[in-house]
Amino acid sequence: MEDLEILSKFLKSNINVHPLALQELKKNENIDAVIDRIISETQKAEKKPEVITLDFIESLHLTAEPTAVQAPQVFVERPRKRFLAEEYEAEIKFKNDITKKSFSNGNIQGFVEYFNDRYERLAKILRGRNRLRDAATIEWIRNTSFRGSVKIIGMVSEIRKSQKGHVILEVEDPTGAIPVLILNSNRELLEISREIVKDEVVGIEGNLGKSSDIVIASEIFFPDVPNNREQNKSEAPMVLAIISDTHVGSTKFLENEFLKFLKWLNGEIGSAKQVQLAERVKYLIVGGDLVDGVGIYPEQEGELLIKDIHVQYEKFAEFLSMVPGHIEIIVLPGNHDAVRQAEPQPAISEEFAGRLYNDARVHMVGNPCYATLHGVDVLSYHGRSLDDVISNMPGMSYSQPDKAMLTLIKKRHLTPIYGDKVPLAPEVYDYMLIDEVPDIFHFGHVHTVGVTNYRGVTLINSGTFQQQTSFQRKLNMLPTPAIVPVVDLQKQTTTKMIFR
Ligand SMILES: [Fe+2]
Repeated sequence: MEDLEILSKFLKSNINVHPLALQELKKNENIDAVIDRIISETQKAEKKPEVITLDFIESLHLTAEPTAVQAPQVFVERPRKRFLAEEYEAEIKFKNDITKKSFSNGNIQGFVEYFNDRYERLAKILRGRNRLRDAATIEWIRNTSFRGSVKIIGMVSEIRKSQKGHVILEVEDPTGAIPVLILNSNRELLEISREIVKDEVVGIEGNLGKSSDIVIASEIFFPDVPNNREQNKSEAPMVLAIISDTHVGSTKFLENEFLKFLKWLNGEIGSAKQVQLAERVKYLIVGGDLVDGVGIYPEQEGELLIKDIHVQYEKFAEFLSMVPGHIEIIVLPGNHDAVRQAEPQPAISEEFAGRLYNDARVHMVGNPCYATLHGVDVLSYHGRSLDDVISNMPGMSYSQPDKAMLTLIKKRHLTPIYGDKVPLAPEVYDYMLIDEVPDIFHFGHVHTVGVTNYRGVTLINSGTFQQQTSFQRKLNMLPTPAIVPVVDLQKQTTTKMIFR
């Protein structure tokens, strides 16, 4: 794009551009998107800058609202000094990992225990809210002659719509079941009810019908995130890079772009600020779908460069060996990996990923993974349940994964819907339940990057390093490949690094 063309784009929004900033901007391949982003950032700024300076552009790299910043492909020629992250020991703790702890036998008793555990733990979170402290049991409600406002905490077993547009929820607790009516005249509640899915646990306030056999809802509560939550921050200047869905082995795997990412981690490419950021990376999370696998989707064979799954993992391990030695790497599986499909999934086994097991800084964990990194709680989940959320809930789409993730954190459950697209193993303990709210809530799977903040939680979808496949084309899914969310754990800000 010519200088004049760029300048006139800004001038339309009454913004001038400093010559140095202009030179920096021109390095971007996707300059249109970058210009749009800068204009929208200036509009959001408290004091709208009249001139876009180099400093202003660079400041966008580290805002909480992620910015689309191209990593310039310049080799920074300087001797390899010791990185800041090397000065710090890793502080990493894991909890509740399913690996080698699966007791699921899939019988009826197993399902009963699984749903009881889910109900009890979510009900405890809901009962922690002031408004629901005095919630009654359904059995009491069914037998009472009391006719005031009542509150219950129940699991939704069915959702249906009447011909007149009322919504009826069938709600259960361990003492019984009762229908809950949401009147079509209650527009606000009707809107909230669109977010309700089968098998989730909600709180309901309402009035009893004439014969104690129906509750007419006046309010619905999700377990949600407390609104006064303080986000944990690291005391040390540590940084976390998050990737997922590399799909090594696929013809659509973007090897050059992935190598650029690895070069950046090694401090070999990027602006001075971007290299400084790389020097602080202490942790790397790989959120599943390391390899493309074999026989995962129709006609995958034609899109496989490496047809042997063992060789796919070998190749992936070869890439990971290029990550600087001081970075701790957490690897969880996804639905393309060689582990059981039922969730929670155990770690990818040594049989397939032997080389990763030989690398001391690689932590092979299950899906989901609850980790604390330098005092910051991170919940990573591959994200397959987004398929269920997007197909069951109006207004959700693959292009806005963070929006779908938001409904899940409000439900405090990673896979609320039982028996849809996500196969679930009925473990005695529900690993998919979010007892403790994390500081970072990370998903992959949908191949689109998304970052948002909600009540002191950073929601991140880490996108992909795979171009659109023929299967995705049929489904009209548009991936945003080669973009890596990078979190400054000390400031709790996220930068989206583009490696295209
Ligand atoms: Fe994937």
